[in-house]
Amino acid sequence: MLSVRGLSVRYGRSVRALESVDVEVGGDAVLAVLGGNGAGKSTLLRAVSGTLKLHGGSVTAGEITFDGRRIDRLDPALVVRQGVVAVPEGRQVFARMTVEENLRAGGLGARSASTRASSRERVRQLFPVLAERAGQRAGLLSGGEQQMLAIGRALMSDPKLLLLDEPSLGLAPQMVGRIARIIREIHEQGTAVVLVEQNATMALQVADRAAVLEVGRIALAGSAAELAASDDVQRLYLGGHAESQAQAESEEAEARAHRGRKVLSRWAG
Ligand SMILES: Nc1ncnc2c1ncn2[C@@H]1O[C@H](COP(=O)(O)OP(=O)(O)OP(=O)(O)O)[C@@H](O)[C@H]1O
Ligand SMILES: [Mg+2]
Repeated sequence: MLSVRGLSVRYGRSVRALESVDVEVGGDAVLAVLGGNGAGKSTLLRAVSGTLKLHGGSVTAGEITFDGRRIDRLDPALVVRQGVVAVPEGRQVFARMTVEENLRAGGLGARSASTRASSRERVRQLFPVLAERAGQRAGLLSGGEQQMLAIGRALMSDPKLLLLDEPSLGLAPQMVGRIARIIREIHEQGTAVVLVEQNATMALQVADRAAVLEVGRIALAGSAAELAASDDVQRLYLGGHAESQAQAESEEAEARAHRGRKVLSRWAG
């Protein structure tokens, strides 16, 4: 249902971020898009969600269709109305608004009051912790909870296709596991997912199919099982050193955030 054909993207005149990229996502699939820093993963999601212009980028060749309709010339709001909703990188939530207000904002694009109510119920079930924190300011949630809120807010507009940009970034391993299970469940409920990740271990566990971007081109594509077994992916993305280093870094970041919160709550209390 999502079809990206021959897509090339530039920022300004000189930065070629994507070059003849082909990607297909079936209506019932999770596609993982892997790749290192600057490979073009976020650019691909921006192109699909119609937000390239906001970042100074433009499509220079190719086309993107969703359910048979061209979407590469639509404004972001119209792309959402087609059923394609993105959760951008960096856990963007409205920090000064409450959890409940964030979710309500996500529901503004819903097709009807009844889909809004059913989406609200779905988010409640997927993320019980958000219901517990309904009245709390989003900026005070932990990193993992903010990621959940960002995903929950996107689900409020009842997407057919959810685009997730590095949901595991900076989260401790346990939280990464939780997010992975939630993505799987969202998919089982009938929503297709494009999952952009540097965490290949997590992404290949969740996805049916996967593609590897390298400097703006698709270097490898296949079933998640094929890619997990491929020597290149093993060496580049599942290799012991880089992975354990990244894990150690994310644990350290989480611990630091936790200490910070403790200090804050001591102040507040
Ligand atoms: N707003 C922008 N203006 C100019 N160049 C950009 C912009 N955003 C990205 N680029 C460039 O486009 C290329 C692809 O970037 P992109 O952000 O899509 O990579 P990525 O795979 O998402 O990387 P990361 O894993 O670090 O998020 C990079 O060379 C990057 O420097
Ligand atoms: Mg990115």
